[in-house]
Amino acid sequence: MEHLQRILRVILFVALLANTVARATRSQPESFLEQIEDTTWVLGNRLWNLTQGRQYGTKLWYNGKDLVGNAVGHYVSYNGACCDLNWTSAAVVESGSDHINVRFRAKEGDFHWVIYDNLTGAYQYFVNHDLPVIGEFRTLWRLDNQSFPRGRTNNKDGVLPALSEYATATNVQDETWQKVDGSFLTKYDWSAFVREQEYYGVYGNEVGSWYIHPSKDYFNGNHLKQELVVHRESKTGDAVQLNMIHGTHYQALSSDQSADGKTWGPWLWYLNNGSKMDAAHRWRKEETAWPYNWFKDSAYQSRGAIQGRLVLSDGRPAAGAAVFLGDNNSNLTTLDQGRDYYYTTYADEDGVFEILSVRSGTYGLYAWSNGGNLAHITTTLVRNNIVISKDKQTELETIFWSSIDRNSRVFQIGDFDRQTTGFALSSPTPYEHGRIAKVPADNVVTVGKSTSSDWYFGQSSIGTHSIIFPLSSMPSRNAKLSVSLAGFSSGCSADILLNAVKIGNITTNSALLPSSQDTYRGATRAGEWHLLEFPVEMSLLKNGDNTLSFKITSSTLWRGWLWDSIFMDWV
Ligand SMILES: *[C@@H]1O[C@H](CO)[C@@H](O)[C@H](O)[C@H]1NC(C)=O
Ligand SMILES: *[C@@H]1O[C@H](CO)[C@@H](O)[C@H](O)[C@H]1NC(C)=O
Ligand SMILES: *[C@@H]1O[C@H](CO)[C@@H](O)[C@H](O)[C@H]1NC(C)=O
Ligand SMILES: *[C@@H]1O[C@H](CO)[C@@H](O)[C@H](O)[C@H]1NC(C)=O
Ligand SMILES: *[C@@H]1O[C@H](CO)[C@@H](O)[C@H](O)[C@H]1NC(C)=O
Ligand SMILES: *[C@@H]1O[C@H](CO)[C@@H](O)[C@H](O)[C@H]1NC(C)=O
Ligand SMILES: *[C@@H]1O[C@H](CO)[C@@H](O)[C@H](O)[C@H]1NC(C)=O
Ligand SMILES: *[C@@H]1O[C@H](CO)[C@@H](O)[C@H](O)[C@H]1NC(C)=O
Repeated sequence: MEHLQRILRVILFVALLANTVARATRSQPESFLEQIEDTTWVLGNRLWNLTQGRQYGTKLWYNGKDLVGNAVGHYVSYNGACCDLNWTSAAVVESGSDHINVRFRAKEGDFHWVIYDNLTGAYQYFVNHDLPVIGEFRTLWRLDNQSFPRGRTNNKDGVLPALSEYATATNVQDETWQKVDGSFLTKYDWSAFVREQEYYGVYGNEVGSWYIHPSKDYFNGNHLKQELVVHRESKTGDAVQLNMIHGTHYQALSSDQSADGKTWGPWLWYLNNGSKMDAAHRWRKEETAWPYNWFKDSAYQSRGAIQGRLVLSDGRPAAGAAVFLGDNNSNLTTLDQGRDYYYTTYADEDGVFEILSVRSGTYGLYAWSNGGNLAHITTTLVRNNIVISKDKQTELETIFWSSIDRNSRVFQIGDFDRQTTGFALSSPTPYEHGRIAKVPADNVVTVGKSTSSDWYFGQSSIGTHSIIFPLSSMPSRNAKLSVSLAGFSSGCSADILLNAVKIGNITTNSALLPSSQDTYRGATRAGEWHLLEFPVEMSLLKNGDNTLSFKITSSTLWRGWLWDSIFMDWV
């Protein structure tokens, strides 16, 4: 009897011990979400925390400091200042031993923060449920300007201009001021090609706040999509770190209705001690980890790959071609596409391209010249019905790209690459307000004698830019003039004259040429691309020197166009 009791006591003790051990090992994440009031929450981990209200996330505690201070903080908004999302509820929707996934609900969709216990920052993503047609859709931080005096993108790194500089300068156009020394202050200097970004953000000596997007597949637009990324808020002085996950900057428009379920992200918002080296290291780490296997979303995890080879009709490889995987059977340009998921790459010197980890679906494949060996290739290749399936590699047959016979080109100025590459004043930086006003009003180049750098990157002032091209005999065929613009901001119009006879125009307020927010916002490398074509009667051409002129008839300061290429073909 006593023996039995002892055995029972031992069993009970062992059971209690096992229970205690199990409780200790089944560890809870340290990361937390606490509700303070009806629509006030605190979320974070032991390294940082944020107080989230109905619209704004404020009081970002990190290393004993509030990094928002008097600034606005964190929010999500669409279509400009019109619509900040209002969070109606928050919940931890998933958790593990070392992380929680917090969902904030708004009527438009769900914003998630995935917080790991040892991570300074969080993964963030947004799942659409009911967004209207969007142009701009962004998340952002407006942070304390003392902690974050500097900004960094892949093409600009430095101190953000102080608010006091704005006070003594004259506003000359939207978000642009002229200082007494004649130089300009504009937030658009801090724009960038979004698909080229590795890590970008605002930082100081003690702290840095960065966005790291290991994939850009949820962004709108193609290789040349540009956005404003960091800047000084010119009204309040906040240090602004933008995350333009759908945007219209440098475009005429971009209107997209995304399906319920379209997911932007996850990307990483990363806090550190201000070290760029550490942020760069983190970028490489995220790039290696993408697609994130912790993200339990079946559509996100359903990915395949695509491989193909592009060959020109004369047999040469389409070396370096820009390759875009986007909407199937679309009537929009690749820059304008933006409701779904988009992939960009460049072919190698053999014309071979490969894109890994593409979401399953049916796509359109597009390719065009990115200059170099293809600088004379002026057509766009389109193939629809490209199917990508989970865990499969889609191997395309060699694609032949019909391109013009080189002998039929009369002349060409500039590489065809949808950019201002090679032209005078096109470099060094891709943005500079007012650089277009430095282009001389008049200029003449001669085919066979001049080089690309004798032609200017843009044209804006009243005056004439001319091309003299020789013909060695009387033409026996008609021709076609192609005018490829790397950007166009309305306000200037030109007549196109061949041997003093008008054969075409570049016209403001024409349905053929919508105005984009590029030239006047200081874009010097690219904006929105347009190809204009004009028939040329052979009777207008002559043996010997011919003159093609772009004569500006009306002009607006800082507006006009960016040149990509001008070429004539026999037809
Ligand atoms: C947030 O961080 C601050 C500073 O470290 C701390 O005082 C506060 O208790 C934290 N809030 C929560 C809810 O843990
Ligand atoms: C969020 O609430 C504010 C204040 O009530 C309102 O002005 C704003 O329009 C709301 N946002 C949206 C997207 O409805
Ligand atoms: C956080 O912890 C995980 C696993 O516990 C580890 O893989 C990761 O490297 C850690 N990250 C940092 C920034 O220490
Ligand atoms: C920082 O913001 C404050 C307003 O909160 C402003 O007075 C100050 O000039 C700003 N500092 C800089 C460097 O712009
Ligand atoms: C910042 O952090 C990085 C990475 O953890 C470290 O190597 C560096 O020494 C730190 N810099 C300072 C000034 O603390
Ligand atoms: C493009 O197609 C969509 C429907 O797929 C249509 O609504 C739209 O009007 C078309 N746009 C143009 C410019 O043809
Ligand atoms: C893709 O576009 C082609 C037309 O170019 C069309 O025949 C096909 O049905 C489309 N596929 C899907 C899945 O929409
Ligand atoms: C301008 O050129 C277009 C062709 O690109 C033509 O349709 C239009 O009529 C021309 N407009 C003027 C004002 O000459």
